[in-house]
Amino acid sequence: MEYRQLGRTGVEVSPLALGTMMFGPWANADVEDSIRIIHRALDAGINFVDTADAYSDGISEEIVGKAIKGRRDDVVLATKFFMPMGEGPNRSGGSRRWIMQEVENSLRRLGTDRIDLYQVHRPSPTTDVEGYRHIDTAAAYGNEREVGEGIRASGVDRDEIVVETKIWVSDYGYDETLHAFEKATGKLGFDRVDVLILHQPAPDRFERTVQAYKALEALYADGRVGAIGVSNFMPHHLQSLLDATDVIPALNQVELHPYFTQPDVQRADAEHGVLDQAWSPIGGITFYPGWGDERVSVMDDPTIRTIAQAHGKTPAQVMLRWHVQQGRNAIPKSTNPGRIAENFDVFDFVLSEDDLRALDALDTGRRNGPDPDGADTSRFERVIPEA
Ligand SMILES: NC(=O)c1ccc[n+]([C@@H]2O[C@H](COP(=O)([O-])OP(=O)(O)OC[C@H]3O[C@@H](n4cnc5c(N)ncnc54)[C@H](OP(=O)(O)O)[C@@H]3O)[C@@H](O)[C@H]2O)c1
Repeated sequence: MEYRQLGRTGVEVSPLALGTMMFGPWANADVEDSIRIIHRALDAGINFVDTADAYSDGISEEIVGKAIKGRRDDVVLATKFFMPMGEGPNRSGGSRRWIMQEVENSLRRLGTDRIDLYQVHRPSPTTDVEGYRHIDTAAAYGNEREVGEGIRASGVDRDEIVVETKIWVSDYGYDETLHAFEKATGKLGFDRVDVLILHQPAPDRFERTVQAYKALEALYADGRVGAIGVSNFMPHHLQSLLDATDVIPALNQVELHPYFTQPDVQRADAEHGVLDQAWSPIGGITFYPGWGDERVSVMDDPTIRTIAQAHGKTPAQVMLRWHVQQGRNAIPKSTNPGRIAENFDVFDFVLSEDDLRALDALDTGRRNGPDPDGADTSRFERVIPEA
């Protein structure tokens, strides 16, 4: 049998895959017969088995699981989510919540701890599945114009790119934030953005923060913004916002790397279905210049280096994989093409539970970035220029 590459994953598959939709009560209720068919295909050199959670309501996955028991390493296993798996809300679709839940169900039915290819069963018109083409900017970075130009120059279709930007605190307030959105889109050169978030909680003027978020809600309702969220919100900021507004933030962008994991923030966000988006995900703030001399670089951590060595990966890749496996979104920054490629090359290895625990245990509880509760009036004096 000749094998071929599965996309750019480095995994080799047989040119024919075994489809298993008809195994189970939908078509063939004879489990032993189905298992015999799967074994015959594997014996013939077919190593690619395709199933889905919905086939015979999960029974196809169970049959495949039984058939590949003891032969798991010989099989490239594909399954899918999206179709309804029972009555009621949140038992279908492409929401992060459902994917995280359903992948566990599929793993249990398949009797394995990994799926080689996890597919969305059909396109979802209402839910974005996170992709690689996600660009994070902010009014305060002063580079929205360049980001827009860069995206246009890339030749990649705008619809394939998720553009995220942030409103700076001096533009908080309802009308001010609506105007700040016009500034942002004017600079970016796009009439809409995919994710619009508040850069800081600014607790010393929180009423303006609430009004700013209400403006985000209005832009979201108008369809000019695909999702709205917050940044640097601690649990008490989140609670105050939730008490005063209607739309739950899609994400909370916070400092999050192995030396500062903010478990309280992660817990509060998870409780409300807010996605954690890690800034400084590979610990940039622990080593890039300008943030104090007593810092210890996460990159040099011996535990991370040991784990990286064991997997033949770099410390940055281990940290990014840790975020991926723990369900966070991460936005690593690099200006170096080699490192940009390196930072996306994290989908061909899996950290063990022990690795994950060891990484979690590195938390020092020490924040490197600015304290979100700190009052600093100079932030409000900063003027974000017109487009
Ligand atoms: N919401 C907020 O308040 C907030 C605050 C800070 C940052 N952010 C966002 O988060 C993004 C990322 O955070 P960050 O820039 O603070 O930290 P980071 O992404 O954790 O680290 C960036 C640093 O790591 C270096 N680097 C990148 N890839 C590497 C690799 N594979 N091996 C070794 N070094 C590598 C980069 O240098 P090179 O460029 O030379 O590769 C840079 O010095 C920012 O760009 C920004 O969009 C948000």
